[in-house]
Amino acid sequence: MTTIVVAMGEKNGIGFDNRLLWHLPKDLKHFKEITSGHPVIMGRKTYESIGKPLPNRTNIVVSRKTDWFEEGILIVGSIKEAMKFAKKIDEEIFIIGGGKIYEQTLDITDRLEVTLVKAELEADTYFPKIDPKIWKKTHETSHEKDDKNQYDFCFQTYERI
Ligand SMILES: NC(=O)c1ccc[n+]([C@@H]2O[C@H](COP(=O)([O-])OP(=O)(O)OC[C@H]3O[C@@H](n4cnc5c(N)ncnc54)[C@H](OP(=O)(O)O)[C@@H]3O)[C@@H](O)[C@H]2O)c1
Repeated sequence: MTTIVVAMGEKNGIGFDNRLLWHLPKDLKHFKEITSGHPVIMGRKTYESIGKPLPNRTNIVVSRKTDWFEEGILIVGSIKEAMKFAKKIDEEIFIIGGGKIYEQTLDITDRLEVTLVKAELEADTYFPKIDPKIWKKTHETSHEKDDKNQYDFCFQTYERI
């Protein structure tokens, strides 16, 4: 099973200036729970934005650059190669962004784990439209903002129709 994990605002914004748009510790905890123990595939910019390998997960970073190396991550030259490596490691694969990687993997993904953040924030990177003819929402839980989590949000699961 290949799953995309994404947190997006109400207009599908996911990032600005190579950063996330919010501070939601509950979402980070949810992300950790879903992905821990499994390979995660990400674009080079998302890796740079996180700044270090995510622990307890094989970090597979996609880049066309051939002249770099970093400890603790697997660098691959294409999404196809990333998928090939990930599938050798585990049946459960997680694609964790960013925008460029989501655009190219939505068609090969079985499930979406979306955090819908109830805010309209300025973004420069977006998640593609979730086509209701292709995806059905199978699960949703709502969470209200509190002193640590800036906005109301929902965790949503989508599966292919
Ligand atoms: N809200 C969320 O859930 C979430 C999740 C992840 C990221 N983000 C945000 O998204 C933004 C980053 O997204 P982004 O679209 O700018 O960048 P990205 O998708 O993270 O990375 C793009 C880079 O990946 C490499 N790449 C992309 N397609 C490739 C291919 N087919 N073959 C080989 N390499 C390929 C290239 O690296 P090279 O330039 O090295 O060749 C490209 O520059 C940040 O703001 C981040 O905070 C948000």
